[in-house]
Amino acid sequence: MNTTPAADARSLFASAFDATSPVWAYAPGRIEVIGNHTDYNGGTVVGAAIDRGIAVAAALREDGRIRLLSREASSAILETAADTYQEAVLPSWTAYVLGVIDEFRMRGWMDAGAGCDLAIASTLPVGTGLSSSAALELATAGALAEALRDDGQTLGTALLIEAAHRAENRYVGMPCGLLDQTVVARGKEGHLVVLDAATSRHTVIPLPQGHGFALFRSHISHALVDSPYETRHRECREVLMALERMIPGIRHLARCHPADLDAYGVTLSDALARRASHVIHEQRRVGRFLRALAQQDAIDAGQCLLQSHESSKSLFENSTPELDMLVGLLKTQDGVRGARLSGGGWGGSVLALVDPMFSDTSAERVCDAYQELFEARPHWWRTRACDGMVHARS
Ligand code: GLA
Repeated sequence: MNTTPAADARSLFASAFDATSPVWAYAPGRIEVIGNHTDYNGGTVVGAAIDRGIAVAAALREDGRIRLLSREASSAILETAADTYQEAVLPSWTAYVLGVIDEFRMRGWMDAGAGCDLAIASTLPVGTGLSSSAALELATAGALAEALRDDGQTLGTALLIEAAHRAENRYVGMPCGLLDQTVVARGKEGHLVVLDAATSRHTVIPLPQGHGFALFRSHISHALVDSPYETRHRECREVLMALERMIPGIRHLARCHPADLDAYGVTLSDALARRASHVIHEQRRVGRFLRALAQQDAIDAGQCLLQSHESSKSLFENSTPELDMLVGLLKTQDGVRGARLSGGGWGGSVLALVDPMFSDTSAERVCDAYQELFEARPHWWRTRACDGMVHARS
């Protein structure tokens, strides 16, 4: 577990609010390993928690005030009242925190008039497709849950995932699936998290022996709230509604068979047929990826990642030239099994599944070639698959 942000959040709390924070929580960022845009289509998606994240140190207040301080994002304490914060003009990142508080109040977990002091410290860059939003939501939810134990309430991880996910859908207005919140909360050292989004159930499976990830952050920032994510979400719903009229009983686009698409896809527009083809084939690629891992076949697992990227690029159209270039460069380096864009797309980061042969020199070579073309250098680092959210008393 990465305890540095937690220690930092606690000392930030002490200096800002002149008191010791009774509770804290830490939640990591995540990578989406494979299963691109399958989660809100009822499919299977594979992710891992990474070695950077966000910590929140917190204390409940009885006077209804909400006071927030972020080491990375605010130079002064931001303050609002529990009953007026929806109207308050606050920076956009605060919506992830206030959305969770709102969800806690709506569910009756927190008194309607209760407030809190929160200090936030992060090692996770924003806008990189590594889910700083879900990390902030879960760190907030975890810290509040820990504080509410004093009232005799025990809020389990499944409830916190649900509240964080609803906060993002409802309060932030981003119609994301369950991938980010699940992986951020359920990550496990050395393991991948496999989420069946149709049932919200998850399992964990070990990473192949000797393998890890290298992450390359493109210089194109990624913010899903203003991206075509919502359009894709709507397109997928339209496809499902069209197919439902012809294939009785289908409930999730990701669970359709490719043969269904061959038979009935002719009624779809060209763009909708390509979105459907991506989702339906991606779901099958996830299956192949999981089988490859079960057989310790990292070569085929890597091929699945490359094919997933190709499908994002040409069918779902959520890649960018920068991400394509990183994947193109990475796949020719020694020790790289496969690479692909990670998460929503339209900017953000590329992940590579690497074995011990992958050298820092190769990574720098990739960055040099990228810089030559785009005049900006990607940031890269190696990450393990890490543990998910943790919350505790100070
Ligand atoms: C974002 C969303 C997830 C998922 C991915 C794409 O990360 O938050 O729910 O839809 O994009 O797979």
